[in-house]
Amino acid sequence: MDTTVSLLAPAKVNLTLDIKGPRPDGYHELETIMHQVNLVDTVHLRRLTDGIEVSTDSPLVPGDSDNLAYRAAVEFFQATGIAGGVDIHIEKHIPVGAGLAGGSTDAAAVIKGLNRLYAAGLDIKDQMVLGARIGSDIPFCILGGTALARGRGEILTPLSPARNLLMVLAKPGYSVSTREVYARYDQGKVTRRPDTGGVEAALASGNLAGACAGMENVLETVTLECCPEVALLKQMMTDLGAVKALMSGSGPTVFGIFLQREVAEAACAIINRYYEEVFIVTSFERG
Ligand code: C5P
Repeated sequence: MDTTVSLLAPAKVNLTLDIKGPRPDGYHELETIMHQVNLVDTVHLRRLTDGIEVSTDSPLVPGDSDNLAYRAAVEFFQATGIAGGVDIHIEKHIPVGAGLAGGSTDAAAVIKGLNRLYAAGLDIKDQMVLGARIGSDIPFCILGGTALARGRGEILTPLSPARNLLMVLAKPGYSVSTREVYARYDQGKVTRRPDTGGVEAALASGNLAGACAGMENVLETVTLECCPEVALLKQMMTDLGAVKALMSGSGPTVFGIFLQREVAEAACAIINRYYEEVFIVTSFERG
């Protein structure tokens, strides 16, 4: 058995995000199309005889038991009954508190990596069930690709992968709390909902214009109230040639979809004059 393993942990964006209503467990019933992009953290795992250690190269990420990656390791050892430990080091590139599932994807990588390191034999479903105990986005991060998520986010249907989707991601200089955004969600304020079925069908037939036409995120109504820069960034992206611009997840990151790399690169350079965290990405392809 290997003693170390390193995994790529990609960010996600929500191509659509709709809320069907509150749930008895305090969460919200979701319908969202999630899509992995090639902005990645690298997660290094090394077997230890016992204990869980977490370190990162980012001062913004907790290096202790508050880190989702730490909680993922605890759940893994508890669920499998394996006696062992792990040293986790995260090379962070995905912005934190951004609506890009940065913490969830690291936790997903820990579950996948520990399953390999300890030859635990968990199939992908087992891993997703384990991940759902830690966070709603983790099952998708384990599944990967492009998928429709329902329930809390754990009921997943894989979709035709949206290949070579070219995007510029830009995050305002602050983070938002997902919990707070959901808590302040008011259905009455929503004027535009995504056409989830339409986007799904358009993606399946490779009709990008059709897919863009149906993309919306109902959480923008909440985040826009406290973060007017989200509206500004959407406008900037469109003015600079994006065929669609939308907030990802609970925000505040905005993604713009572009058709030509030169146009995306020019947009990226201009937005980068005003915002530090700006990236050109395309769809994540498993190596
Ligand atoms: O599951 P996770 O801890 O990542 O979710 C963060 C917060 O987002 C939850 O505490 C909850 O307030 C909110 N949430 C929700 N409905 C969902 C997913 C998350 O209300 N489907």
